[in-house]
Amino acid sequence: MTSTKNFTDIDLDTLDLTDLSYFEDGPPHEIFARMREEASPHWNALTGDEPGFWSFTKFADIQAISKDPATFSSARAGVFLTTRGATPVEVLREVILGMDPPRHTAQRNIMQVVFTPKLMRQKENDIRAIVTTLIDDVIEKGECDFVKDIAVELPLRVIAGMLGVPQDDRRQLFEWTNKLSHAAATSDPEEGLGALMEIGGYLTGITAERKANPADDLISRLITAEVDGESLSEQEITFFFGILMFAGNDTTRNTASGGLRALIENDAERQKLVGNPAAIPNAVEEMLRWVTPVLYFSRTAQCDTEVGGHPIREGERVVMWYPAGSRDPQMNADPQRFDVSRQKPMHQAFGGGGPHFCLGNALAKLELRVLFEELMRRVPDMQFAGPITRLTSNFSNELTSMPVTFTPGTREGTGSVA
Ligand code: HEM
Repeated sequence: MTSTKNFTDIDLDTLDLTDLSYFEDGPPHEIFARMREEASPHWNALTGDEPGFWSFTKFADIQAISKDPATFSSARAGVFLTTRGATPVEVLREVILGMDPPRHTAQRNIMQVVFTPKLMRQKENDIRAIVTTLIDDVIEKGECDFVKDIAVELPLRVIAGMLGVPQDDRRQLFEWTNKLSHAAATSDPEEGLGALMEIGGYLTGITAERKANPADDLISRLITAEVDGESLSEQEITFFFGILMFAGNDTTRNTASGGLRALIENDAERQKLVGNPAAIPNAVEEMLRWVTPVLYFSRTAQCDTEVGGHPIREGERVVMWYPAGSRDPQMNADPQRFDVSRQKPMHQAFGGGGPHFCLGNALAKLELRVLFEELMRRVPDMQFAGPITRLTSNFSNELTSMPVTFTPGTREGTGSVA
């Protein structure tokens, strides 16, 4: 298990997963295991105006909820644990993550065509060039902060390039991503809205320029996209940009750092990958399963219904705890063991398989595959060199710093920033 805390004595009747103390060491897998066995689903009572929610921890239940958007709505009350999420509910309804079909389908179609595995594969050389530069920048020193120097930078540079924002502005993207992640962790919709408004201000100049000179990038795609014969509004463009930036950054970063951490902690698993690039795609699936960096999304029942034989009343909130689904023993034998040779590990890192299933999953897997191919080839002996820190969050499994040392090597790239 990842957590070092002892949760065996916790009273599930009074357990409240909005209490962040359960998440200080990451997802509380011990609690999730007990919930799967003893309280599935689990009713999480809340005080004040918030009505509480059902927590689902079994793979099959999460899948059933996710695949039935007509019964389980994202738009009705948002996708967070309470009405206080990363942004106000009215704003979230304007982002694809918080929409229901048919509006969701129409908006998703704008980007679906860009994120196909086939088109993503054409990005492999660009991604490898970025990874080469990032490793070059640290390899002679024999030390780095893996999170800050590599895991943060890779998805940031990739998504900045795809969106079509100048690489010099990527610090700004990093800060907005962190604000949105922090807003989700602390249930501070005002902070999230503030970040979106800053993004809107920033985009005004870029969209004007791109309208005059369309380019082969996602901002131009958003500007020229039409839904039912109408262009997207400025607000829709801002929110779409915001979700692509946030979803493309934080998650990939957290899988990369959590995945490397698991490899360092389980050296026998790492040795299976050194000199064996063919094993890496499967290992990436196991890292996704192990880290499952997005902890949950919620839905709201549109009518009286049932999940796994359990009645759910109209208006009740249901929460899908993805790391719990990824470690459901019904789906993977010995799920609390990190095993890169596990064949086709079953996980819910990208969601439960419904219409909101991660749009960027092919891109994320490509980035992670190329990154670990290069890490296992060039710096296969990374070791921890200082305290590992994390964001305390019930939404994001996020390391903020992981200092490492390794045998110094030589640069391989041209030295230009990809
Ligand atoms: C390891 C990396 C990633 C993980 C673990 C991840 C995880 C997720 C999850 C759990 C969802 C919600 C699924 C649901 O509600 O059913 C989601 C949605 C989404 N992801 Fe990812 N994601 C990752 C990378 C990316 C990347 C690289 C992009 C590209 C820009 C991206 C774009 C999106 C978008 C746009 C949505 C909303 C889709 C919708 O509502 O239809 N994600 N992702």
